[in-house]
Amino acid sequence: MNYEEAKQKLGAYGQEHALQYWDELSDMERQNLLCQIDALDFSPIHFVKDRGELPAKGDISPLKAMELPEIEDRREELGKTGLQAIREGKVGAVLLAGGMGTRLGSDNPKCMYDIGITRHVYIMQRLIENLMDVVREADGTFVPLFIMTSEKNHEATTGFMKEHHYFGYDPSKIWFFRQDMAPATDYNGKVYMEAKDRIASSPNGNGGWFASMAKAGLLSTLHDLGIEWLNCFSVDNVLQRIADPVFIGATINSGCASGSKVVRKAAPDEKVGVMCLEDGCPSIIEYYDMTPELLKAKDDAGNPAYNFGVILNYLLREKDLEKIMNEKLTLHIVEKKIPYMAQDGTFVKPQAPNGYKFELLILDMIRHMGSCLPFEVRRNHEFAPIKNKEGVDSVETARELCRQNGIEL
Ligand code: UTP
Repeated sequence: MNYEEAKQKLGAYGQEHALQYWDELSDMERQNLLCQIDALDFSPIHFVKDRGELPAKGDISPLKAMELPEIEDRREELGKTGLQAIREGKVGAVLLAGGMGTRLGSDNPKCMYDIGITRHVYIMQRLIENLMDVVREADGTFVPLFIMTSEKNHEATTGFMKEHHYFGYDPSKIWFFRQDMAPATDYNGKVYMEAKDRIASSPNGNGGWFASMAKAGLLSTLHDLGIEWLNCFSVDNVLQRIADPVFIGATINSGCASGSKVVRKAAPDEKVGVMCLEDGCPSIIEYYDMTPELLKAKDDAGNPAYNFGVILNYLLREKDLEKIMNEKLTLHIVEKKIPYMAQDGTFVKPQAPNGYKFELLILDMIRHMGSCLPFEVRRNHEFAPIKNKEGVDSVETARELCRQNGIEL
């Protein structure tokens, strides 16, 4: 992309100010800026002005989950189906590790966070240890592991994995790819500058992972490996069971195009997204969209009808992912603190939100998949998220849950 093309692209979105320092830039800096402008998608920005265009929620109705008693009864049969798929190389895992982890407040990627007490126990180590349980169960079959990073944490993540010898995982079964970035704007939809040669940008949410995988050329790898299912999971749940054979078997046998691990809500007003049907398609309704009627609704057995929260562990059928890859996901405009370069050239790290980031979310992909099996897991055994430094969903709560599960820290 040359200067004129960049000016034209920016002009179409009212962002010409991104070139205001052009005359002060070195050749190298000019090149960097042009590359960034070429790569960034500015189209989400117009939603800042016209937020009414964002689709409203459809008709919500309950979606039945496979609950623990049924899973216990069928554990052997389901586990057998899942293990067979793993042994045949049909299952891959995708670690979503492109997030910024701002709430945790560490400068390093979240996967490098050390939750150990008497020894080092890094978040990544915990995930790999859990995945290794499945490798052993599948007689040494390594599950291909795809790790999504972002421009902001790629070098640190790959370097860390190498330094720790991939925590015992077979490096030939690990692929890294970077997710796309999205521009960050002020409240008027004008992009912030991070430096004279750089527009402020951040990873575009955890919903763009499959498109980013495709962009990285990994579709042919998936085909060559014969992968039919991808288990997508978040980096910050240190009890995360990855490529769980019983979950895989249950989803395959259900005939659904996707499955989602869910936990029973701890309280009706717990702040988790719950599984439901929206206009007849599987969907996740966020806690802030739950009306009093939905909160009170009961199923045939008299239990709360919307009682199963998602934990960011999904199994998705690969061929359906390819089908929906080009469909537009709902865009989320999120108010955030965006560090930026002020007009006087100083770098500002705001203490309060000062603008918008644009994110796509994996939970919206479930709707596009067409069908989904919510699969209940025991919260205390499989859900120990680390979002904050202290308090709810923090290092302390996760450590306690590890202790309860006999994991030495
Ligand atoms: P969160 O929504 O908790 O975001 O991510 P975060 O960036 O880790 O943390 P905060 O909100 O800044 O404190 C849930 C999962 O989605 C991944 C995260 O790495 C985590 O595994 N994620 C999130 C991405 O991979 N990319 C993104 O752009 C955002």
